[in-house]
This record gives sequence, C-alpha cells and structure tokens, in this order.
Amino acid sequence: MTVDETMGPPWSATVRRGADGALVVGGVDVRWLAATYGTATYVLDEVDLRTRARQLRTTLQAAFAQVGAQVDLYYAGKAFLCVAVARWVHDEGLGVDTATGGELGVALYAGVPGQRIGLHGNNKSDAEIARALDAGVARIVIDAPDEVDRIADAVALRGGGRADVMVRVTTGVHAGGHEYISTSHEDQKFGLSIVPGPDGSDSPALATLRAVVARPELHLTGIHSHIGSQILDPGGFVAAVSKVLTLRAEVAQTTGVLVDEVDLGGGFGIAYLPDDVALDFERVAKDLAAAAVDAAAQLGTPLPKFSFEPGRSIVGPAGMTLYEVGTVKPVRLADGTVRTYVSVDGGMSDNIRPALYQADYHAVLASRTGAPETVQARVVGKHCESGDIVVRDVQLPADIRRGDLLAVAATGAYGRSMASTYNLVPRPPVVAVAEGSARALLRRETDADLLAFDQG
Ligand code: LLP
Repeated sequence: MTVDETMGPPWSATVRRGADGALVVGGVDVRWLAATYGTATYVLDEVDLRTRARQLRTTLQAAFAQVGAQVDLYYAGKAFLCVAVARWVHDEGLGVDTATGGELGVALYAGVPGQRIGLHGNNKSDAEIARALDAGVARIVIDAPDEVDRIADAVALRGGGRADVMVRVTTGVHAGGHEYISTSHEDQKFGLSIVPGPDGSDSPALATLRAVVARPELHLTGIHSHIGSQILDPGGFVAAVSKVLTLRAEVAQTTGVLVDEVDLGGGFGIAYLPDDVALDFERVAKDLAAAAVDAAAQLGTPLPKFSFEPGRSIVGPAGMTLYEVGTVKPVRLADGTVRTYVSVDGGMSDNIRPALYQADYHAVLASRTGAPETVQARVVGKHCESGDIVVRDVQLPADIRRGDLLAVAATGAYGRSMASTYNLVPRPPVVAVAEGSARALLRRETDADLLAFDQG
C-alpha cells in the first residue's frame, strides 16, 4: 500500500496509513488524537458521514424519480445522536427520526425544525407526546391502538389543530443478517399486525388506521414499516413494500383516504469485517422502485411518496474506536494453539454489541505498522466479565505490546448510543475529524460526572 491509499471498508473513507505507518483519519494522526483526547476514544469521520448521508439520499431519490415518486430520508438518531450530527444530517437534506423524548430534545436543541423530525416509540409518555405536539413534529408514528385517542385527546386539550401521524404496521417480514423470513404472525412489541382476526375482523393495523381517520384531530399522513436492522439481502424490503401498498389500498377502500406516504424504515446493512459486503442500496432502491410500480399498478392506486430511516448505514462506517493496549497475554488453548489476549482500556461499556449480539469487528495496530508475522488474537476489554470481548478473532502483528494503539473499525452506530458506565468506567468522548482538524462532539465523562449522581 502506498501512503496515500485509503484502507477501504470496513474503515471510513479517509482512513489511511501515514508515511511512518500510523493511521490517519480525516487527515489527523491517531497518535495525536490519543495524546490529545486520551483513550478509549470514538473517532467520527465527518466527511465520510456526510457523504454517506448525501449519497443514500440522492441514490434513493434518483431511483424513485425514475418511476415518478419522491423520497425523503430521516436519519435514525438511535444509532448515534448528538447536536453536531443532527446538524450535519440536516445540512445534507435529511430529517431526524427520534424514538424518545431524549432524542427529540437533542434534535430540537440542534435546531432541526419539528417539520423535519419524526417521533417513534412503542410506549410514548404523555410528556413525549406533548413535546412532539409543541414542536410541530412532522410525524408521530402510532405504535399501539390506544395512542390514537391519547394523541387526539392531547391535540383537543391544546384547543385545536391537527397532528400529523403515521401508523407503524408489521408485515410479517423480518430481516437482518443474510436471510429474511416472512411469517404471518408476529410475537414482538412493535407495530400493528396486518393479519385479520380469526373471525375475519379487521387486522389491528387496519382497525387502528380507521380509528385515526375517524378522529378529526389527526391527519393520517402515512403507513410505516420497519423490517429489521443490518439487512444484507434486498428481498425483505421488496416483500414488505407490496404488503404495505396493499394495506394502503385497503385503507383507501374502506375509509376513502389514500395516504400520501409510505415509510420503509431503516436497516441497510454495512461491512464490519474486511470481507463483508455491505447492502447494495443502489440495487435496493431500483428493486424497490420496480416492486412499488408493479404493486401500485396491480392495485390501481397511484404511487405514494416514500421515506426511509437509515441509522447504521450513515454513522456506522464513519466511526472507529481508538484504544490503548495494556496487558498482552498468550493463552494456550485445549487444541494446543495459542490465543493472544490483548486487553484494551475500554470494552463492553463502550461497545456492547459483541456481548449482546455476538457481533464481529475488525481491528488493526494503529500507532505503527508492526511486525509482518502475526498472532491469532482476541481483543478484550477491562471489565469484570469473560464475555467482555471487543474483537473475537483477529490477526495482529506478533510484536503487539503495551502502549500500542489499536483501532476498531465501524463502531459509529450503536456503540456510544448503547454505552454504559459498567464497572464505573466513564464513557469515552466522541471526537470528530475532518480535513486535518479535530474537535470533541461529546467530552469524556469523568469520575466527577459519575459521582455527580451519587447522593452520598
Ligand atoms: N427506524 C426504526 C423504526 C427502527 O426501529 C430502527 C432501528 C431504525 C429506523 C434504524 O435502523 P438502522 O438503519 O440503524 O438499521 N442495537 C441494534 C440495532 C437496533 C435497531 C433498532 N431499530 C444493533 O446494535 O445492532
């Protein structure tokens, strides 16, 4: 590799090895980042994140424009949200999808107008609903039958107006990983099933959609379907879109209201390992647009506007985590081979995904090139659990040693947002890099922060 060559997936677009072998991200040497901000630190590549947001938007818009349909994107803040990221995605023409009052509060504080925000949640509090109404949130996504009256009553209490709402439905299509499955009944907490009752009565989805139409305080803007996350096979999206369009036609038949918008949620899968192939969203966009045209033609309804809520595919690859190596311990396994346990100054508190989902990650020695010979390594954290694994299996240079910096790729999504202070390890900062400069978006937590909650 020449010094100017970027490393490619799963690393963010600007990651390369500098002249002396250390990693450079966003034009900033990781050794400088570690010296300035300490370790562990999340590093977010601003140019990469913005480019992904923009490309996803323009690709989807271009494919649907071919069939005469509009597309809008809402960045799913649950993947990672802070004020700067909310502003970046808004700058790039995306709205922000929030799932709680906390996420809504950050998006509003960032200056994202209510008209560019959506609110989800399977158990919205009255305060969350009130806040969304106060802010003029573009769509409150109804997730349970009782929310219809709760939101409508809240609107009435305020003395009038109308709230824009969508209804989240479950189509029986579940996706994630390499396969998708389609089942008629769903045993999970989100959304409302499109399966009619055993006596032929309206499905919970249809009944709820009709209830929305019956309340003058509510404006039914669309139907929402999110089928899963880290999806690598486009088939699930295609299966879901025709089911949602069929339901839309049914609602039109029974209520006279043909909703304007269909939201297909998020879930675009990314590469975590060098050999992973990310979901080809250009292909998904084309397949989906074609499937939507077919379904709409069969149903005799015009195409709606479409929206999407990608989170991981925007922020995941843009992030990496920098750690410093502490203990290096060779452990002889039952089969006689040796596994080198490399302990770093973080772990399951800053990335719970390996412990929670057996998620795999990729790491490299970041502060230098290292010996050409490698060892079979496992990168582990500093927590009091044997499941505290950062990278299950990775080849690292045989001379890996205390004080080296390790970088773990593609940690931008669901890392900091799911971080904890387990073992009272303060949460790392999030540092943005772009064009040779760096700034902390979130500062490192301190022992004083942790004690600040302690009432003594
Ligand atoms: N929209 C809705 C309604 C969702 O429930 C989700 C994710 C998204 C959008 C964004 O999906 P994405 O594009 O990021 O896949 N903690 C798990 C992922 C949970 C996803 C939950 N919902 C993980 O770390 O893999």
